[in-house]
Amino acid sequence: MTERTLMLIKPDGVKRGKMGEIIRRIENKGYQISAMKMVVPTEELLNLHYAEHVGKPYYPSLVNYMMSGPVVVMIGEGTNIILGWRTLMGETNPTKAAPGTIRGDLGREWDGEAMMNLVHGSDSLSSAKREINLWFT
Ligand code: CMP
Repeated sequence: MTERTLMLIKPDGVKRGKMGEIIRRIENKGYQISAMKMVVPTEELLNLHYAEHVGKPYYPSLVNYMMSGPVVVMIGEGTNIILGWRTLMGETNPTKAAPGTIRGDLGREWDGEAMMNLVHGSDSLSSAKREINLWFT
């Protein structure tokens, strides 16, 4: 089924000059990027986007990390893209993410509380709809 998903290149991906490499991997896979913009997210937006993480011990550092610079915000389209993009990204912790994935190839852990992992992808159809509406109002 053709799906849409929200894709983010997080501030560490932008600062480290990985936008081109990440977009290249999306396009090489065959997914379409149907919308794209750069924004520095507000805390209000992040509280909604990360609603399930609010209150976790790492949440304040997650917000600082996500507000530390511009984020590339994209809508990706393709058959089963929600799962496909999460497979391309690799698992959350970049130390454990498999080689061949974006997080596995381009990411690592750094000192500090925030887990910087370069990219985000919606985890379900309902999250994709919710997140696309939040970031593209
Ligand atoms: P992501 O899975 O895209 O969305 C939630 C983010 O919270 C996750 O990426 C990490 O950046 C961060 N995160 C999740 N779990 C932890 C953790 N245990 N410690 C620090 N940061 C985390």
